[in-house]
Amino acid sequence: MSWTDRKSIDHIKQLRDIFKVKTFVETGTFKGINVITHLPNFDMVYSCESDEENYDYARKKIQDYWINKTEGNPYIYNQTSKEFLKFFKKFYKEAKRKDTIIFYLDAHFYDPKNNKSNKDRFVVLQELKALKGFKNCIIIIHDFDNNLGHITYDGISLDFKLLEKDLNKVNPNFKFYTNELSSCDIVRPYETDDPDERANLEYAWSKPEKTFRGILYCVPKKINIKGLKEWN
Ligand SMILES: C[S@@+](CC[C@H](N)C(=O)[O-])C[C@H]1O[C@@H](n2cnc3c(N)ncnc32)[C@H](O)[C@@H]1O
Repeated sequence: MSWTDRKSIDHIKQLRDIFKVKTFVETGTFKGINVITHLPNFDMVYSCESDEENYDYARKKIQDYWINKTEGNPYIYNQTSKEFLKFFKKFYKEAKRKDTIIFYLDAHFYDPKNNKSNKDRFVVLQELKALKGFKNCIIIIHDFDNNLGHITYDGISLDFKLLEKDLNKVNPNFKFYTNELSSCDIVRPYETDDPDERANLEYAWSKPEKTFRGILYCVPKKINIKGLKEWN
């Protein structure tokens, strides 16, 4: 949930300005709060959500928020991220676009009964495979293991070793950066009147590892952004 961290939102806006990004693509819409956060920051915001209940809820929330402001935007899809990203890549190629896209990967699903391989456990691996060869992009991976709070399934962490091969297939020239504890600035529950935001923030503030989450930034060239350190 990048919207909980003011610094992360600021880092995304700085990346937008450096790379002249107009399109923000999120996987895992959940309640739609991240979409609402980034709507004023980008010309186009896309998001996909596989769970029908979350999708319906987010659509309604976003519509209520955004009504009469822009035709069509944002674009929310009730699809798995793998299907959606394949569709988006095709659409981008057919339009002969060259602009840089931000992909914010935040779709998580874990069912211990169904998981046989890392690809089944970690949706992000399916997403990176779907983005293979998409060089004009910045990939941001939430819940990454950089020693801050992160995802671990069956004792396997969402760390660089897990991601490296598939990231290189998206862009072998990616430069990697992460956030640090000192660069987190997490919103407090009392700062919002929105019940969904408050519930998420109360959950986030329930334990330090839920409050301060690791983020990996994969960018096409070297950058110098305060609060982001090189990952090597
Ligand atoms: C951590 S939440 C996303 C939070 C949201 N990005 C935010 O900042 O508020 C993860 C969401 O991903 C969805 N999800 C899980 N697997 C998915 C998949 N394969 N494709 C798309 N969405 C998925 C879940 O239903 C859940 O709503």
